[in-house]
Amino acid sequence: MKHPNKLTALFFIIFVAAGTVPSPAGWAQQNTPPAGDYIRGVKAWGDNCSRCHNMRDPKEFRDDQWKSIVTHMRVRAGLTGQDARDILVFLQTSN
Ligand code: HEC
Repeated sequence: MKHPNKLTALFFIIFVAAGTVPSPAGWAQQNTPPAGDYIRGVKAWGDNCSRCHNMRDPKEFRDDQWKSIVTHMRVRAGLTGQDARDILVFLQTSN
């Protein structure tokens, strides 16, 4: 090969452009769901968490308890993963 460096660079560009080289950053982005958002969580909590029973005070449960409660209530309430993460951030910030 006369120009191995140019060739390597060319392959790199082609593969990166095609998205076939998983860079560590891209991998992390694809596998880590978007973080919960407090403001959206307040709204989603208000919209969903008093439909079936009285609203429970965020201070009633610890962070780890809220995590399992929200996992359970996500199924009951039919929430999206994003709604559940947002609500969890709100509850864990407010207890
Ligand atoms: C579709 C109806 C429904 C919705 C919507 C709902 N819940 Fe519930 N929730 C229940 C039922 C039924 C129970 C009691 C039985 C059980 O645990 O499944 C309960 C129990 C609870 C408890 C008591 C758990 C304990 O161990 O004392 C908490 C706290 C709670 N829900 C929080 C929430 C939150 C936060 C939301 C919003 C994300 C929510 N719920 C939305 C039906 C619902």
